[in-house]
Amino acid sequence: MRLHLLLFSPLCLAGLTARAQESPAWPNPTVGEFVIPNFTFDSGESLDELELHYKTLGSLKVHKDGTTNAVLVMHGSSVVSSEQFLNEDFAGTLFNPGQILDAEKYFLILPDAIGHGKSSSPRNTGLRAQFPSYQYSDMVRANYQLLTEHLRVKHTRLILGVSMGGMHTWMMGEQYPDFMDALMPTASLPVQIIGHNRLWRKMFIDLILNDPDWNKGNYETQPLTSLRGAMSMLQIMFLGPLHLAAEYSTRDAIDEFFEEMQEGLLEHMDAYDVNNQIFAWNASYTYDPEADLGKIRAPLTAVNTADDLMNPPELRILERTVQEQMAEGVGKAVVVPVSNETFGHGSYIKAALWKDELQQLLSRTETRGPHHSKL
Ligand SMILES: *[C@@H]1O[C@H](CO)[C@@H](O)[C@H](O)[C@H]1NC(C)=O
Ligand SMILES: *[C@@H]1O[C@H](CO)[C@@H](O)[C@H](O)[C@H]1NC(C)=O
Ligand SMILES: *[C@@H]1O[C@H](CO)[C@@H](O)[C@H](O)[C@H]1NC(C)=O
Repeated sequence: MRLHLLLFSPLCLAGLTARAQESPAWPNPTVGEFVIPNFTFDSGESLDELELHYKTLGSLKVHKDGTTNAVLVMHGSSVVSSEQFLNEDFAGTLFNPGQILDAEKYFLILPDAIGHGKSSSPRNTGLRAQFPSYQYSDMVRANYQLLTEHLRVKHTRLILGVSMGGMHTWMMGEQYPDFMDALMPTASLPVQIIGHNRLWRKMFIDLILNDPDWNKGNYETQPLTSLRGAMSMLQIMFLGPLHLAAEYSTRDAIDEFFEEMQEGLLEHMDAYDVNNQIFAWNASYTYDPEADLGKIRAPLTAVNTADDLMNPPELRILERTVQEQMAEGVGKAVVVPVSNETFGHGSYIKAALWKDELQQLLSRTETRGPHHSKL
């Protein structure tokens, strides 16, 4: 079980473990690239060419009434989408034959958001700290363009997102209310980033910006001291207290876990380009979907776990916003209790925890869509 926890460390989430491999069973895997010329960010900055990379599984079916079998799946901050999802706990629990999002039946779209994976980022464009200060609004708009202009998907059966992707899911529902039959944000809240969640992001960024070795983004080798500190903070926010204590029940065990984590970081330093990290964690700066929640029309089920330190249940934000801000009957808030099966913020990757909710959401939206006719 020790490996299990490591697998849900950010190292795992970046797809650096053996387990994050693609099952041969998923049909028609395709990787592609969409270039948006002259992409203008909400900040007013622009890129001559914004590259968006993505992976799809299955094939698109467009029904006579305009509904489709397309499912958009959006990843968390600072990871690579396809790598994050293609493991036993997520894809192996949802995408296999007979499972809820069977890739034989659905067209699954896994984009790399702006600044992530192979899509244009501070690192891979060579712009480093001069890269446009992209925000969630830009990432959501770019993903929408990818689907509508490049993949020719004018309507989706479901939009599902985890963590940052969960926040993008709320935004998609507000900005393109007729674009989906159903919405499922996980490990997220539909309010601006406050409290511990903002505090640790600010600390993470501040640590790096104040490291002379960062050199305003023009480092020769990555600033290791601040990167280690920043990644340690991320681990604390990611892990759940009960699971951590159960897996590593002694001081020495947890110390050993820490040492392994640091070794893993050193081994995969390249995956943690600090410029990419700063931009990714700051991209939630303008996130503030609360006022527009009433615009969401597609049925939505939001799932968090009670041991998620980024989205603490005692704030009761999820229940309050869904009940008070959303149109009646549209939203459902679910907070999964802490158990030996949850492990903090990263619980979103364990689809077994929330797949019954997903099944119910799909059932209750089966006859919906823009034309309210059966598929
Ligand atoms: C981008 O905009 C510039 C200036 O408006 C124009 O010269 C250029 O051709 C555009 N590039 C593309 C690929 O459309
Ligand atoms: C974070 O994003 C905001 C909004 O785009 C921007 O004003 C600010 O300079 C950014 N901070 C950093 C450290 O990049
Ligand atoms: C969780 O695991 C611990 C240690 O393995 C065990 O003692 C405890 O009974 C378990 N709790 C539940 C609710 O299953």
